[in-house]
Amino acid sequence: MERIFSGIQPSGEIHIGNYVGAIRNWVRLVDQYECIYCVVDYHAITVEYEVALMQRRILETATILLACGLTPEKCIVFVQSHVPEHTELAWIFNCVTPIGELERMTQFKEKAKQHRQNINMGLLDYPVLQAADILIYKAGYVPVGEDQVQHVELCRDIARKFNARFGLTFPEPQVLLSAAPRILGTDGQAKMSKSMNNTIGLLDPPSVIWEKLRTAVTCPHREKRYDPGHPEHCNIYTMHTAFSKPDQLEYVEKGCRTAAIGCIECKEILSKNMIEELIPIQDRVKAINEKSHYIHEVLTSGADRARAIAQKVMEEVRTKIGVKFRPQE
Ligand code: TYM
Repeated sequence: MERIFSGIQPSGEIHIGNYVGAIRNWVRLVDQYECIYCVVDYHAITVEYEVALMQRRILETATILLACGLTPEKCIVFVQSHVPEHTELAWIFNCVTPIGELERMTQFKEKAKQHRQNINMGLLDYPVLQAADILIYKAGYVPVGEDQVQHVELCRDIARKFNARFGLTFPEPQVLLSAAPRILGTDGQAKMSKSMNNTIGLLDPPSVIWEKLRTAVTCPHREKRYDPGHPEHCNIYTMHTAFSKPDQLEYVEKGCRTAAIGCIECKEILSKNMIEELIPIQDRVKAINEKSHYIHEVLTSGADRARAIAQKVMEEVRTKIGVKFRPQE
């Protein structure tokens, strides 16, 4: 069975962009592939954060993954810092990665702008650790949202450079995109992202979801109720593609283009569908939280399973790069 790896940061709020861009796709893949999913806590410390809140953020993220259906019977779920081989391999990859490649990464440039006071080495090195996450398991496929495609391409470059220098060791992993790989935020301007304050949280209660949708920006062409719109320019329509059934999609698409329906009706349909899909997940989160030991047990055994694979690959890497001592002849 081919192997899949993907990761998510414990950012403090998992939003519907993460869900439809990545997590929901991860769930669909567990029957066809051997899947390894990771809460990447070491990536999350590349920006300022509240130390006292980190553990809760890690546990909440892992709990959401489980509640979405990524149970230990179906895949491995674990926390990145519990398997130190990730950071060990990242160091070796640092030594085959040109700095120029890292400086031209879009995410680095954006984050460097957002965090002018703290442009640290970790921020620049972020994609190298990401490459190590993937390649320490020799994963062939990486299901992510569109914003991560460039990082996975760099991962392929790193694999190629390592193989060329030290001999064939790593595959060149391919991206798997979901059907909704880029969800815009409620501001209609930027990608949905916690740092932009434009998110709908996976754990938001129904009233909050509706309030955020009700006030969300729609197609700029529909200034007045009877102005026809362009669904392809509307973030609400993009969310419909992720949450609504084909007949509803056709109804809102036509209704928007002909101004037969208003934005509020369109948003009501979306809100109902979104809430219907999220409520069972929220209920499972509550149930997991009631058995507080359960999530710890899942993460401990997930890390054990992941570490067993990672340690073997690390042994191979140490041998290939010439640092492993051979028995004296
Ligand atoms: P993170 O936590 O920022 O995002 C997790 C996943 O959610 C996707 N995503 C989106 N998809 C669609 N629309 C959006 N608005 C949206 N926002 C986020 C991301 O593309 C991602 O798939 N760097 C990774 C974490 C990572 C990783 C890895 C991923 C670390 N190591 C190894 C794959 C393989 C990230 O973006 O996390």
